[in-house]
Amino acid sequence: MQNDKVQIFDTTLRDGEQVPGCKLDTNQKLIIAERLDLLGVNVIEAGFPISSPGDFNSVSEISKIVKNATVCGLTRAVKKDIEVAAEALKFARMPRIHTGIGTSDSHIKFKFNSSQDEVIRRAKEAVSYAKNFVDDVEFYAEDAGRTDNAFLAKVCEEVIKSGATVLNIPDTTGYCLPEEYGAKMKYLRDNVKGIEEVILSCHCHNDLGMATANSISGVINGARQIECTINGIGERAGNTALEEVVMILKQHPYLNLDTDINTKLLYDTSMMVREKMGMPVQPNKAIVGANAFAHSSGIHQDGVIKNRETYEIMDPADVGVDKSSIVLTARSGRAALAYRAKNIGYELTKIQLDKAYQIFLKFADKLKEVKDDDLHFIMKDVNKYSKIAMA
Ligand code: KIV
Ligand code: ZN
Repeated sequence: MQNDKVQIFDTTLRDGEQVPGCKLDTNQKLIIAERLDLLGVNVIEAGFPISSPGDFNSVSEISKIVKNATVCGLTRAVKKDIEVAAEALKFARMPRIHTGIGTSDSHIKFKFNSSQDEVIRRAKEAVSYAKNFVDDVEFYAEDAGRTDNAFLAKVCEEVIKSGATVLNIPDTTGYCLPEEYGAKMKYLRDNVKGIEEVILSCHCHNDLGMATANSISGVINGARQIECTINGIGERAGNTALEEVVMILKQHPYLNLDTDINTKLLYDTSMMVREKMGMPVQPNKAIVGANAFAHSSGIHQDGVIKNRETYEIMDPADVGVDKSSIVLTARSGRAALAYRAKNIGYELTKIQLDKAYQIFLKFADKLKEVKDDDLHFIMKDVNKYSKIAMA
C-alpha cells in the first residue's frame, strides 16, 4: 500500500520567531529558509508581511531564493494585510496566502465584540479577496481547538466555497486532548461539504505538552498537513516540533504516512536554529537534545553496548547524530567503563578493570560526569599496579 504524504508546513520563521529574544534579521532568515528548503519542508511560512517593513522584506527576499517549497505569508482577515502579503510574495515560485480569523466564542466576544454571522462573512470575504492574488489560499480558524465543532464545520464549508485550498484548524491555546483534536478532524471530514477537495492542517501549541500528540492524532484522523517549528519553538510553550512529528511518522510505518523530509539533516538544522535564534534546547528534548542518544545508567549502558536496539528505538545516524554516547557517571557500571577506556586506547584485563572501577567510583561521586581526561588520569593510577595494554 502506497503511503499517504503528510505535508510539512514549517513556521519557524513566523510563529517561531514571535518568541521574545528570537528575532532574526533578513540575512539570518534567508540562511534558515535555504536550509528548510534543503531539509524538504513543503511550505515555509516566511513571516507576517504587514507586521513590519523588516518582515515584509524578509518574506520578499525569501520568496526569491526558495527553490522547492511553497512560500507562505500570514495575514489577518483584513484587505490591506492581504494586499501587502501578495506584494511580498510576488517573486515566489509557489506563493500561498494564509488568512483567517478567530472562531471560538471567546475570540468572537472578547477580541472582536462580534457575532458568528459576522465572523463567517469576514472569513469568506478574506478568502475571496486573497484568491484575486494567488491560487493557493490557506484559511485558519484561530482557536479552533475551543470552537464548537458544528460552527467550525459551517465556517469551513463557507471558506471552501470561497476558494480556500487548505483549512488550518489551530489549537491556538494548546488546550485539546489528542483524542479530542483527532475527533475534531474526523468531525470536519464527516460533516463539511467539499472537504475532500482541500487539505486539513494541524497547528498545535504546546501549553499542556500535547502539541506533538495532537498533531499525530490529527493526521491519523485525516489531516494531511502539520504546521510545526524546528525545536518546537513558538509562542509561550511553543509549537509542534518538526523533528518529533517527522520521526514519529518514520518510526511507525504501519500508519502509512510519511513526509518528504531528509531526516539526516534534522540535527544540523536544529543546531543552526539554536545558534541563529540564541535559543538553547533542553538536553532531554526528543530527537535533537544533547541527551537524546546518551546513556548513563549502568543497566542501560550494558544493554546498548551489547546491542543498540535494547534502549534505542531509532538509529541516531537517521537524524544526523554521529552515534549514541555512553556517559560515565556514578551510575555507570564496569561495562561502560571498559567500553570508554577502550575507545581511548586502554584494553583492560578483568583485574585491571576491577581496580579501575574502584578508582572511577571515587571520581564519579565527586564529578557530575567523568570525561576522557579523567579516564587517562585513572588509567595512570591503574598502571602503577599493572601494565595496561594499548588497544
Ligand atoms: O496559533 C494560531 O492560531 C496561529 C494562527 C495565526 C495560524 O498561529
Ligand atoms: Zn500558532
